[in-house]
Amino acid sequence: MKNIVILISGGGSNMAAIVRAAGRDRWSERFGARIAAVISNKADAAGLALAKSHGIETAVVPHKDFPSREAFDVALAEAVDAHSPALVVLAGFMRILTPAFVGRYAGRLINIHPSLLPAFPGLNTHQRAIDAGCKVAGVTVHQVTTELDHGPILDQAVVPVLPDDISATLASRVLAQEHQLYPRAISAWLADTSSHIS
Ligand code: GAR
Repeated sequence: MKNIVILISGGGSNMAAIVRAAGRDRWSERFGARIAAVISNKADAAGLALAKSHGIETAVVPHKDFPSREAFDVALAEAVDAHSPALVVLAGFMRILTPAFVGRYAGRLINIHPSLLPAFPGLNTHQRAIDAGCKVAGVTVHQVTTELDHGPILDQAVVPVLPDDISATLASRVLAQEHQLYPRAISAWLADTSSHIS
C-alpha cells in the first residue's frame, strides 16, 4: 500500500478535497494508495477534526515546542516516517522546511501554492497579483526543493482576475480551483509511479 501523509496548518480544505477524491476515485483499488495520516504543526488546525471524522489518523507536532527549525523538522520527520510515506503532501502547511527535511523526501514531497509560479512565491499572493495588474492568477502544484515555492511544476490552473476583485474574492476563486487541481495532480503522480512498479 502506498501511504500518503498530508501536512496542514489550518482549515484543511485542500486536505478534505484530497480525501474526498481518494474515496470517490477509488485510489485504493486503482493505485494501492491511501491517506495514512494528517499531521499539523498547530493543535487548533480545523482540518484535524475533519480528518478524524473520516477515520484518518492525526498527529500534532507543535513547532512552538522546539528550540529551532532543525529540531522541529527532526520531530516532524519522525511523525511522518511513522506512516512509511510514499508521498508527503503539503496542503496549506505554513512552515519553511529545512534542507534536511526536503532532502529526506526528495521526489516524494509536493506542495500547492496559490499563484502561477514562478510568479509570486511567498505570502499575500492574491493582493500582489491584483497590485501588479495581472489579468489572470491561479495555483501551482510543484515538487518541493530547498528553494521556497520553487521546484518542478506538476500542474497549474488559471483563473481570471476581475476588475473589482479584492484579495478575498480572488482567493476564493483560486481556492475552488485548488480543490480540483490538487487531487488531479496527486492522482497523476500515483498513476505515474504505479506504472514504474513492475
Ligand atoms: C491554500 O490556499 C494553499 O494554497 C495555501 O494555503 C491555503 C490553505 O488552505 N498555501 C500556501 O500559501 C503555501 N505557501 P486550506 O488549509 O483550506 O487547504
